[in-house]
Amino acid sequence: MEAYELWQKAVKAREFSYSPYSGFKVGAALLCKNGEVVQGCNVENSAYGPSNCAERTAFFAAVAKGQREFEAIAIAGGKEELVMCYPCGVCRQVMAEFCDPDNFHVICGMNKEKLEILTLRELLPKSFEMQD
Ligand code: THU
Repeated sequence: MEAYELWQKAVKAREFSYSPYSGFKVGAALLCKNGEVVQGCNVENSAYGPSNCAERTAFFAAVAKGQREFEAIAIAGGKEELVMCYPCGVCRQVMAEFCDPDNFHVICGMNKEKLEILTLRELLPKSFEMQD
């Protein structure tokens, strides 16, 4: 699937954002290796701490459906207008749990002309991995 097509699904997922505290709406579209796309949005909470980012919502929903292998994730975020929205550190670590850092792509953008495609390794170099 083309990057822009996946990103448009993130824009669509953003419509479901529950973000009354920050007003910052984020959507994510996670492309699984079998071609399925799982969407997610940020879900906030009045206690703030229990809030969940769009990217993790998508990952956890996908894993809960039996998906374990992923190609790419697209992200769209902003209050009214879209801005460049890069994944937070916690979401990068969740991606690292399941994805090959050199082959998993993170697509961040504001519109068709401004789409950035990064590898997970670029976003999270030298990440933690459990050694035995
Ligand atoms: N947020 C995401 O959902 N994804 C990101 O990549 C960055 C931040 C959410 C968390 C919170 O609900 C709101 O955006 C403002 O931080």
